[in-house]
Amino acid sequence: MCGIVGYIGTEQAAPILLDGLEKLEYRGYDSAGLAVYDGQEIQVMKSVGRLQVLHELSHGGEKLPGTLGIGHTRWATHGSPNNENAHPHFNKDKSIVVVHNGIIENYMKLRKLLLARGYEFVSETDTEVIAHLLDYYYKGDPLEAVLKVMQRVEGSYAFGILFREHPDELYAVRKDSPLIVGKCGHGNIIASDVSAVLKYTRDVYFIQNEEVAKLTKDEIHFYNIDCEELEKESTRIEWDVNAAEKGGYAHFMFKEIHEQPKAVRDTISPRIRDGKIVIEELGMSEEELAAVRKIYIVACGSAYHVGVAGKYVIEGMARIPVEVDLASEFRYRRPILDENTLVIIISQSGETADSLAALREAKRHSGVTVLGIVNVVGSSIAREADHVMYTWAGPEIAVATTKAYSTQLVALYLLAMRFAGVRGTIGEEEMADLIRDLQKLPDQIEMVLANKERLQRFANRYAAAKSVFFIGRGIDYAISLEGSLKLKEISYIHSEAYAAGELKHGTISLIEEGTLVAAIMTQEELYKKTLSNVVEVKSRGAFVMAVTNLGHTDCEKTADYVIYIPKTNPYFTDSLAVIPLQIFAYYVALAKGCDVDKPRNLAKSVTVE
Ligand code: M6R
Repeated sequence: MCGIVGYIGTEQAAPILLDGLEKLEYRGYDSAGLAVYDGQEIQVMKSVGRLQVLHELSHGGEKLPGTLGIGHTRWATHGSPNNENAHPHFNKDKSIVVVHNGIIENYMKLRKLLLARGYEFVSETDTEVIAHLLDYYYKGDPLEAVLKVMQRVEGSYAFGILFREHPDELYAVRKDSPLIVGKCGHGNIIASDVSAVLKYTRDVYFIQNEEVAKLTKDEIHFYNIDCEELEKESTRIEWDVNAAEKGGYAHFMFKEIHEQPKAVRDTISPRIRDGKIVIEELGMSEEELAAVRKIYIVACGSAYHVGVAGKYVIEGMARIPVEVDLASEFRYRRPILDENTLVIIISQSGETADSLAALREAKRHSGVTVLGIVNVVGSSIAREADHVMYTWAGPEIAVATTKAYSTQLVALYLLAMRFAGVRGTIGEEEMADLIRDLQKLPDQIEMVLANKERLQRFANRYAAAKSVFFIGRGIDYAISLEGSLKLKEISYIHSEAYAAGELKHGTISLIEEGTLVAAIMTQEELYKKTLSNVVEVKSRGAFVMAVTNLGHTDCEKTADYVIYIPKTNPYFTDSLAVIPLQIFAYYVALAKGCDVDKPRNLAKSVTVE
């Protein structure tokens, strides 16, 4: 999983490439590289570590003159992060150069064939195979060579390619890895996603699977794998350019935490009209909605946690059985699906490899409807799902998701309510109350955000914690899962989430004097049950931080530190209770001096299996 940028035009390429790569660093940041062509020689510069190193090494791109180039920011898959493995990769006489995002699954076989033909490899990457294979097939026509390579390689790829004999052309190819083309006033640009091109253009073309784009400074031509030229319409991107910047906050994560009221409002508002839930993009008639007998929610990481909460909400409101699966499990477990099954794939990026594979697995079963709940417009999951419901969170840059998670949650509430309305499992009055409570959520999130200073003081005390437990029942268990993931992924503190009633079946042995236990207690019906579990851990020395509804002052008698959230419908408490957990994780990571936006070993978009 990596970021790719390419430029051809009248401006110096290197500064444009560096600028685009900066926006794509969330896709990988263990090394970076540029290849720039000045018409004489293709010059390559690489560095290990963050893009800033390459920036300094190239003097902001000045050391690489030329108006044609490709750039790459890497997240290692084949071979450790070092200079040899960093992209771009050359063929033997340095006349062809490639950047790649994805995985070439048959690269070992291809490598053997190429070695037998006298090719030598300088890296451990799968990508270098492409450079040599292009060399092998290149007989003067780049397009022909590219198409031949596409027929030989298996796996996922997005390539940016330059040929020394063609100083006025840039080639872009993709299959199962994202790549877009933008047309700007002074040339044309390719990138792994739109955030890298927004500074130059809002008009982009989406390259589809197994298509090639040939760019010159004035023109863009698209071809399919049979070399037939394709007509494409550009799409206008309406995202705010500033939305992709930090806007005064120290970290993207903190900015994104604060953007949640707006993101949630933007996701809810267009779907409530005249007091009714309207989800046009669902593309299903009332009869089809009523015919759904089973729902699978499939996702990874935080999006999976949204699914866990969604199960409680959909089953509770609409009385449809819901199974929640990790995409990496679902794709291989031969799920039983029929025409009355709805499969919901949740993904912020819309590019997560396991989620995409799960989507394809679902689509193999005839009659199954697949709905994508996706944030990135035009992403692979959005394109391949039968229907797509966008979450309007805007670009999310921090690796740890916050606003995308919150918008995914409300998207599921809306769906649950729509199903409940059609199936008559919720009466008109209750529906009106639910809609009112839903619309209040953005302001209530704002209220929770206002108490952040108090949380910072508390978080500073726990920066040295070795292990933290999150417990809760029902929806509170789903919240615990997310609170725990947030903490561990950015602060590197070991933490686990447990269904509160399950703790005593083993895990309670880990509780010792001073262990921090976060007890989530927003479900009124289960409040007393979880409180008993709090007593159990307290009596074994735990320090308890409780998150509960406003009014539960009795909680202070048992818990050591209590965070209150405004009252809402029990189905919606995740949207409020997750906020202090995000803030807590953020401040703990900050106090520990961790790289909040780019935690170690992680990448924003996991486009490999
Ligand atoms: O882009 P997706 O929503 O498909 O990504 C899924 C997970 O990789 C993602 O939610 C991950 O768990 C987050 N980093 C958690 O903060």
